[in-house]
Amino acid sequence: MSFVITGASLLGERTADLYVDDAGMLQPVDSAPAGAERIDADGLVALPGLVDLHTHLREPGREDAETILTGSRAAALGGYTAVLAMANTTPVTDTAEAATRVWELGREAGLVHVQPVGAVTRGLAGEELAELGLMHRSRARVTVFSDDGKCVHDPRVMRRALEYVKAFGGVVSQHSQDPALAGPTACCHEGEISGRLGLPGWPGIAEEVIVARDVLLARHTGSRVHVAHVSTAGSVEVLRWAKAQGIDVTAEVTPHHLLLTTDLLTGYDPTYKVNPPLRPQEDVEALRAALADGTIDAVATDHAPHARHDKEHAFVDAAFGMLGLETALAVVRTAMPDLSWADVARVMSTTPARIAGLADQGRPLEPGSPAHVVLVDPDARATVDRDASVSLSRNNPWHGRELTSRVVHTVYAGRLTVRDGALVG
Ligand code: DOR
Repeated sequence: MSFVITGASLLGERTADLYVDDAGMLQPVDSAPAGAERIDADGLVALPGLVDLHTHLREPGREDAETILTGSRAAALGGYTAVLAMANTTPVTDTAEAATRVWELGREAGLVHVQPVGAVTRGLAGEELAELGLMHRSRARVTVFSDDGKCVHDPRVMRRALEYVKAFGGVVSQHSQDPALAGPTACCHEGEISGRLGLPGWPGIAEEVIVARDVLLARHTGSRVHVAHVSTAGSVEVLRWAKAQGIDVTAEVTPHHLLLTTDLLTGYDPTYKVNPPLRPQEDVEALRAALADGTIDAVATDHAPHARHDKEHAFVDAAFGMLGLETALAVVRTAMPDLSWADVARVMSTTPARIAGLADQGRPLEPGSPAHVVLVDPDARATVDRDASVSLSRNNPWHGRELTSRVVHTVYAGRLTVRDGALVG
């Protein structure tokens, strides 16, 4: 189906119509056939489809929490046209066959591009490298590798992984957390509040020492490292230094680390239990500043659905993680209302697409680009209802909060996946 999107403001800067042809490409609007359907986007902002570097889709293994299809639906509703599916599934995505299967299931769902992330080490055990080269050469073309959920803590293994992926332009996305400094029972930020609540905490330094070590390893190997879910001001300082040295490092921050703080834990609500943990306001401020000035390159959701029987427990026993795909854009707008739409496109689409090597995503909204587009109502305000989510899980930290802006339409590969805020078909 070809159609014309009329009246949208491209990146919030200039109004133009967009013609999407039958082949799913953007074309000059004067080449649109006279009878082409028109989609009125007056007052909406058009951005390139969002790209999420960090999503947990749980399939295979935990289809009670999410599937590739339900996660793809959540992604489309959130304005995404590509998501990177983390490797901590059951079994782990550590072989070419496993990666190809995730990629195929993503294609069958057909709502966003699902790009598998390969594990760095076999079984996420941190010891032996996984089939990095075979995963890259598979049909899934894996280029991002991560043991997310766990840190690749052995420096020798991390060095070898960086050397290995360098050969084909891959990147290691690190969950930066020294297990010895964090301790096996840590479940929240270590500070005054954890002391008061009697909860074992993670100190910020457990993250920062790994970020520091890894940027040095990236320099030493001449390879590329990506820091997943940066959460402390100290990590930002290290990243700023590393970038000034010309080290090939990129970093992401989650929407929740841009808006939520550790004080939410005083009610012991496990919804707010996440890894890395929510931090104090000073860290939140540093993360926002770093995202605005480019020290942090991207926003990534760390969408981490969990079934009720894993999440609804006493705080210390509950699973780590929170939902994020459907709300990410509105959370970023709410946390950082002064970020321009061009910057939103940079941190949520263009740069993540570049980091992941997804050549047809994050492209400018101009003739010749594949039609991956999101149209946003910039002024809408809505209260989040966790029961309205299409995710199979309900661990939604935004329930009951009013957020700014709303995804109205999403176009993936020239097809409307979301129209007027609802899934198509
Ligand atoms: O909170 C988290 N949940 N952090 C992670 O690193 C893993 C994720 C998950 O898989 O649930």
